[in-house]
Amino acid sequence: MTYSELFEKALEASKKSYSPYSHFPVGAALLTESGKIFCGCNVENRSFGATRCAEQTAIQKAVSEGEKEFAAIAIATPKSDYPVGPCGICRQIISEFADGKMPIIYGCSWENHIESDVETLYPSDSLHELGSS
Ligand code: THU
Repeated sequence: MTYSELFEKALEASKKSYSPYSHFPVGAALLTESGKIFCGCNVENRSFGATRCAEQTAIQKAVSEGEKEFAAIAIATPKSDYPVGPCGICRQIISEFADGKMPIIYGCSWENHIESDVETLYPSDSLHELGSS
């Protein structure tokens, strides 16, 4: 699975977006170490705070299916004219399951995308030791 194929899955997932309030579809495709792909889209809510981002949907699908080892995540925002990175809450949620080197690929199209990683987008991450007790 190339990053471009993973990004294509994220783009496809964005078509399922439920975003009647922002009109901003987002898709995510999460590649597991075992080679599976879990896709997600943003699911908005009229109580705006209950909105779930695409990355969160994909991660919750994967973890609830027993997958916690992730190799990469791609995020597609087809309505933006520049690559939109994950929001702060998503950076925190991604970092729960990923080490600093895990690639995060995000873009509005494959022609206009950025390849980054967890430690670049979420530096000085802390408190992982809480999970080991
Ligand atoms: N959104 C995501 O799905 N992921 C992000 O990382 C950024 C924001 C969604 C939330 C909301 O439905 C819409 O994009 C506008 O913020």
